[in-house]
Amino acid sequence: MLKIGIIGVGRIGKVHAEGISKYVKGAEVTAIADPFLDETGEQWAKSLGIQHISKDYRSILADTEIDAVLVCSSTDTHSQISLEAIKAGKHVFCEKPVDHNVEKIKEVMKAVQSSKYKYQVGFNRRFDHNFRSVKEAVAAGKIGTQHIIKITSRDPEAPPISYVKVSGGMFLDMTIHDFDMVRYLSGSEVVEVYAVGSVLVDPSIGKAGDIDTAIITMKLKNGAMAVIDNCRRASYGYDQRAEVFGSKGAVEIGNDTSSTTLLSTIDGVVAEKPLHFFLERYMQAYTTEIQEFVVAIENNTAVPVSVTDGLEPVIIGLAAKKSLDENRPVTIAEIKNTFGL
Ligand SMILES: NC(=O)c1ccc[n+]([C@@H]2O[C@H](COP(=O)([O-])OP(=O)(O)OC[C@H]3O[C@@H](n4cnc5c(N)ncnc54)[C@H](O)[C@@H]3O)[C@@H](O)[C@H]2O)c1
Repeated sequence: MLKIGIIGVGRIGKVHAEGISKYVKGAEVTAIADPFLDETGEQWAKSLGIQHISKDYRSILADTEIDAVLVCSSTDTHSQISLEAIKAGKHVFCEKPVDHNVEKIKEVMKAVQSSKYKYQVGFNRRFDHNFRSVKEAVAAGKIGTQHIIKITSRDPEAPPISYVKVSGGMFLDMTIHDFDMVRYLSGSEVVEVYAVGSVLVDPSIGKAGDIDTAIITMKLKNGAMAVIDNCRRASYGYDQRAEVFGSKGAVEIGNDTSSTTLLSTIDGVVAEKPLHFFLERYMQAYTTEIQEFVVAIENNTAVPVSVTDGLEPVIIGLAAKKSLDENRPVTIAEIKNTFGL
């Protein structure tokens, strides 16, 4: 049984702890660390049978019984904790993004490449039943040569301003998942980005220096084009749709709902709203990504989301930011050159 320690048990750390205890085979969470864990948090951990509760993540790294760690702390701590964890001989699952700073991601890549330990990045949508089935259809050639990839990704509500200020901006915080989906669904790489954005939801997001609504167009290496539309607030819930269109046809996915009920009356036909937000929508994906991390460790096979997969969407996000700031298309090569990549 693989022993796992979770570093950072806020929203996503708790999701993973509960997912592992209920659904993941071959692994158990034996320790958690979070400097701000209160009594309720301790009670919650005990209810899951977690024996070691600490405020200092280094106690997890020093524990020789622990095989793997999940880095679920705030983003600004990810790269440092990752480096220390690899050095301590742990397999690492790191929540997205590895860092906002490309130089720090490069340090983690170097450490991963020269170690024998697994390092997986938390791009959970790759494990979602809907996105995976689109990927499989595209990879099997069912839609022929890819022409257009369309992703709609809108949150039900904007995050607090305190979060916006440290988020790295919408492209690196929110669109990063969609950039990953463009790479995943197409199996290709983005070569050029053009982004337009506005503040249409909340003026205080604009005052904090960010945008809340955007359209990003991309050219891909395989010749296809992609478009992502984002908004921090959709009044009807979490809107997560995608379509890949090609020479032989198209494959698309709609939103998941809590039921398929359709109420038909003289006034019209009413369906359920999409599931509210990521915790409801992606629970299955959060569990599956950890199960596949555990399997990769057990079988000594490649992890399904590598550290390079962690870097590329950050580069695309930086290109989108530059495009928005300078109102011009920006190539990925231009951004990579500045980092010697
Ligand atoms: N893949 C996804 O869908 C997804 C969803 C949500 C969050 N995330 C990512 O997960 C990370 C955490 O997000 P969240 O929403 O759970 O945030 P959160 O604020 O709810 O939780 C973060 C936790 O980390 C703890 N922490 C901070 N510094 C620490 C340290 N040095 N050692 C141990 N714990 C520390 C905090 O006390 C807090 O409890 C972020 O990087 C975010 O981008 C990913």
